[in-house]
Amino acid sequence: TARVRIHHLQQAKERGEKWAMLTAYDTYSAQVFEEAGIPVMLVGDSAGNVVLGHSSTVPVTVDDLLLMTKAVTRSTKRSLIVADLPFGSYESGPQEAFATAVRMMKEGGAQAVKLEGGVRVAPQIRMLTDNGVPVMAHVGFTPQSEHALGGFRVQGRGAGADQLLADAHAVQEAGAFAVVLEMVPAPVAAQVTKELSIPTIGIGAGADCDAQVLVWPDMAGLNGGRVPKFVKRYADLRGELLRAAREYADEVRGGVFPGPEHSFE
Ligand code: KIV
Ligand code: NA
Repeated sequence: TARVRIHHLQQAKERGEKWAMLTAYDTYSAQVFEEAGIPVMLVGDSAGNVVLGHSSTVPVTVDDLLLMTKAVTRSTKRSLIVADLPFGSYESGPQEAFATAVRMMKEGGAQAVKLEGGVRVAPQIRMLTDNGVPVMAHVGFTPQSEHALGGFRVQGRGAGADQLLADAHAVQEAGAFAVVLEMVPAPVAAQVTKELSIPTIGIGAGADCDAQVLVWPDMAGLNGGRVPKFVKRYADLRGELLRAAREYADEVRGGVFPGPEHSFE
């Protein structure tokens, strides 16, 4: 079957069909999620936390994400692959944003990029979309601005709702094909979803968004630490991997592994 395209996501919104996005950072996760029918994968800078051992997305570099984007695009042929633009690689202006996006597409093989911000980054989104780069926007809580926002906090509460609506409209006006809404009150996300013609993708933004996204090691229980309230764990991969690693080590210590069936004459 053919590659998922941005117009398919637009059609899904018009038909009222919801869809699920997951992050992916390497070959096996990407293969599994494509086989599961996940139409859009994000090579997210959440890799800073869940792959690279940082405590935020701030230190993630373009080269870090390029490496993972290459792995994911080589390993998939149907899902639409979106690469995050990391902190410090697009904020200074449209030219910088374009240069980074070009690397993600030409070297990484991504079909779209994502960047954080609303009104503030509308000129970047306009430059990219005018020049052949599909853009997914990201408003509400934006992890790259964690330190400016004062930590992980719900955005768009009370008077903040007007700013959130303005940001969402600005990214649509600038040409974004979809927008992530992160940690936004469900009624505000529902209003944004109704007002915008492009799909909204929620994470901690309630059930009325057009789509949902989760960080896969959180969703699959590989993350051993605390996960945010908005995460649902669909598996206990950490428990399963721990069991496997312990059993392997026990069998080596006990002389059980390798057996004759794993050995050459
Ligand atoms: O980096 C990431 O995983 C993201 C999603 C949570 C939207 O930006
Ligand atoms: Na991100």
